Amino acid sequence: MILVTGGAGYIGSHFVLYCKEHGEQPIVLDNLVYGHKEAVPAGVPLIVGDMGDSKLLDEIFTRYPIDAVVHFAAYAYVGESVTDPAKYYLNNTVATLAVLEAMRRHGVSNFIFSSTCATYGNPITVPMDENHPQAPINPYGQSKYFVEQILKAYSLAYKLKFVALRYFNAAGGDPEGRIGESHDPETHLIPIALQVAQGKRPHISVFGTDYDTPDGTCIRDYIHILDLAQAHQLALKLLRDGGESSIFNLGSEQGYSVNDVLNICEKVTRRTIKRVNEPRRAGDPPRLVASASKARTVLGWAPTFQNLDAIIETAWKWEEKRHY
Ligand SMILES: NC(=O)c1ccc[n+]([C@@H]2O[C@H](COP(=O)([O-])OP(=O)(O)OC[C@H]3O[C@@H](n4cnc5c(N)ncnc54)[C@H](O)[C@@H]3O)[C@@H](O)[C@H]2O)c1
Repeated sequence: MILVTGGAGYIGSHFVLYCKEHGEQPIVLDNLVYGHKEAVPAGVPLIVGDMGDSKLLDEIFTRYPIDAVVHFAAYAYVGESVTDPAKYYLNNTVATLAVLEAMRRHGVSNFIFSSTCATYGNPITVPMDENHPQAPINPYGQSKYFVEQILKAYSLAYKLKFVALRYFNAAGGDPEGRIGESHDPETHLIPIALQVAQGKRPHISVFGTDYDTPDGTCIRDYIHILDLAQAHQLALKLLRDGGESSIFNLGSEQGYSVNDVLNICEKVTRRTIKRVNEPRRAGDPPRLVASASKARTVLGWAPTFQNLDAIIETAWKWEEKRHY
């Protein structure tokens, strides 16, 4: 059985659905601060509580035959992490330690961690592979970087085995539209653009049009949520089969500019999306694109969504059917 922390959130809930449809038995721990109980599929136990609550963790590990933890729970607002760093270090780093300690007490040794390309900081070379230097430029990225360091130390000293997955930009939803992206506040480009297309927002802000990129807007790497889910399952298999602790980038290896993304959103929705150009935001690198060849080679990961049009189709399906 797999304990999925943050399993009521965007990426976690898609992993839970994927697991359920691939013969696994997930159980969700989420405090619902940002998650949605409607996102947890029927039949999957949802424990509403905090991952930093050691007593609750002991109850969960005692009650359920858990052999692995897939750890999505975290706060993920980069801007807020700058104005309220304590919130990020305490939740993302300190509360994660509570989970690792509970695993140690209960002899559970497989851990999959949601890390991020934000642990790299400003890119020195693009595409970025896993050996790119890590110098996070905000407390969110640091809070995840610290966990990676803790995992390395724990795996050397104790029985813990981990896979840290450094995601680039997660995007899209369940192709059937049952669940999808729902952050409040929403800060991600694609859902905001689609909400502009629906008339739910007046316009979208484009932050920076004078970057050293072909159209002057920032370039990012978008990976479909089900391809992320598949990578988590393969990472679990690696550990369960006795593989070594490892770190992998997860990205599509293709860069799309903000304007590219908005043009594709207009194509998919057949609606105009009003753009308002704004100054650059501090801390936005011009270009972030993954090299994910290690995940393909070592995990046998084979992303199925090859282009952004197909990813945005699934996001649009969700926006049209959205129920949370
Ligand atoms: N969305 C992306 O593009 C992206 C990119 C890189 C990394 N990540 C990482 O992936 C993970 C999931 O991101 P997401 O977009 O699904 O975010 P999300 O906010 O939708 O999901 C996170 C979930 O964790 C829960 N949570 C937070 N703190 C908790 C706690 N102390 N106890 C129990 N539950 C708690 C929230 O209620 C929420 O349901 C995060 O760790 C994030 O840092 C996301």
